[in-house]
Amino acid sequence: EQTRHYKFNIQIANVTRLCSTKSILTVNGQFPGPKIVAREGDRVVVRVTNHVDHNVTIHWHGVRQLRSGWADGPAYVTQCPIQTGQSYVYNFTIVGQRGTLFWHAHISWLRATLYGPIIILPKLGVPYPFGKPYKEVPIILGEWWKTDTEAVISQALQTGGAPNVSDAYTINGLPGPLYNCSAQHTFKLKVKPGKVYLLRLINAAVNDELFFSIANHTVTVVEVDAGYVKPFDTEIVLVSPGQTTNLLLRTKPYFPGAMFLMKARPYATGQATFDNTTVAGFVEYQKPYSVSAFDKKLPLHKPTLPAFNDTSFAANFAGKLRTLATVRFPANVPQSVDRRFFFTVGLGTNPCQVNGTCQGPNGTKFAAAVNNVSFAMPTTALLQAHYFGQSRGVYTPDFPVYPLRQFNYTGTPPNNTMVGNGTKLVVLPFNASVELVMQDTSILGTESHPLHLHGYNFFVVGQGSGNFDPAKDPANFNLVDPVERNTIGVPAGGWVAIRFLADNPGVWFMHCHIEAHMSWGLKMAWLVLDGSLPSQKLPPPPSDLPKCG
Ligand code: C2O
Repeated sequence: EQTRHYKFNIQIANVTRLCSTKSILTVNGQFPGPKIVAREGDRVVVRVTNHVDHNVTIHWHGVRQLRSGWADGPAYVTQCPIQTGQSYVYNFTIVGQRGTLFWHAHISWLRATLYGPIIILPKLGVPYPFGKPYKEVPIILGEWWKTDTEAVISQALQTGGAPNVSDAYTINGLPGPLYNCSAQHTFKLKVKPGKVYLLRLINAAVNDELFFSIANHTVTVVEVDAGYVKPFDTEIVLVSPGQTTNLLLRTKPYFPGAMFLMKARPYATGQATFDNTTVAGFVEYQKPYSVSAFDKKLPLHKPTLPAFNDTSFAANFAGKLRTLATVRFPANVPQSVDRRFFFTVGLGTNPCQVNGTCQGPNGTKFAAAVNNVSFAMPTTALLQAHYFGQSRGVYTPDFPVYPLRQFNYTGTPPNNTMVGNGTKLVVLPFNASVELVMQDTSILGTESHPLHLHGYNFFVVGQGSGNFDPAKDPANFNLVDPVERNTIGVPAGGWVAIRFLADNPGVWFMHCHIEAHMSWGLKMAWLVLDGSLPSQKLPPPPSDLPKCG
């Protein structure tokens, strides 16, 4: 076990995409940002220094942060933001995880450009269960706006309408040849025949779930969200914002110069408008790639992707994922439950403050809620408020266990689309075994929501379409080898059931990883109390923890 030190300087860089140049926030001038590489068991120490005129935090998405909640990163949840000219050292140990995760900014929409891979290698001498790949390649899917993304979201929140959709998707920051003036910004993966490549696929897009496929090649899914799964072959992968998927690509005996497109484009179930474009990159056998080869229209193989609203592909794909569950990597699924929760997740509306001028439905403004509570961000960090006994006026511990009003969630929408507001937390005793059913609502139409839980992995014990039936559905829960992950799509017009053991004290954010929905309030937080033993308590905060204001 070793300590890995990194320096992240938040600084401006000018980047040109789609023939227009803009200033973006970067780490160390790089876009996408630098890789964090560590082995399971290593300590990671990242000194983040803010050199820009904007508050910043960094989140280590999917890292469990066992008893290191001060290093988790969501602004106003576990820390106040790092202000201009200040630094904060994120210090955490990787416990019981191996695979691919990613880091991203966790304040406003800064994660649109501030993101990069986290690669967790197995402990020294421990092999991958799927054998040793010839090469490992991160593939980060992202989303690009020609304009400043902070302006995109602040304009949407001011007008009460939906934010402008992006101008392109990207693979490792590059939109690829299907966009205007973008051929020189194309990701190319050069391969040799007859080898195995480990593709570390990350969806860092801001607002879209994405299908991904490589022409003429089947891939094997071996890992999701830094946990091994039972391998299965597929031509198409679905990956939601916040999810990571490791794939084995077995190259074939193709001739040098053979070229195959890899493509990603959205899976969109409810949105009236979304960025309906396609990012492409190349897999090229051996010979160096040249732009002119593509322009000259040499034979190029293209993959086919499902229709943008193919919910049955999504349900099938989700159903194939099973955790590996071997002696070495057991599935510790909670077999009994101490606390049961039923959360509705979905969009709704809030009254328009500036009378009649809001662009949301029927002159209201867009909102989104969990159990009818649209989360109001506090102005000081929740974890600090809890730790120092200063919760008064910051949050209330009364997040509803069930929705306040029941209705047919997937049928006719209710007349009243209004949701309430509040900064409410669920309080859990240490080591409580939790079962949470999340039900998509049809308040403003059914739509898939990738829900991300900080500080935990959970087991996805059940999922289905329509309304969850508490009398029938639990009998079919998988308590043997359910997939273990940190982000799960609540299916459009359906439900998902997860279980986790609350063994990590702290305040843990849970939210839709579609940034537009998160901005509208589709978020809440769990407060997990300390246990009685010293090893069950959250240590005091580091002395450089940023202060608010
Ligand atoms: Cu990847 Cu709370 O985020």
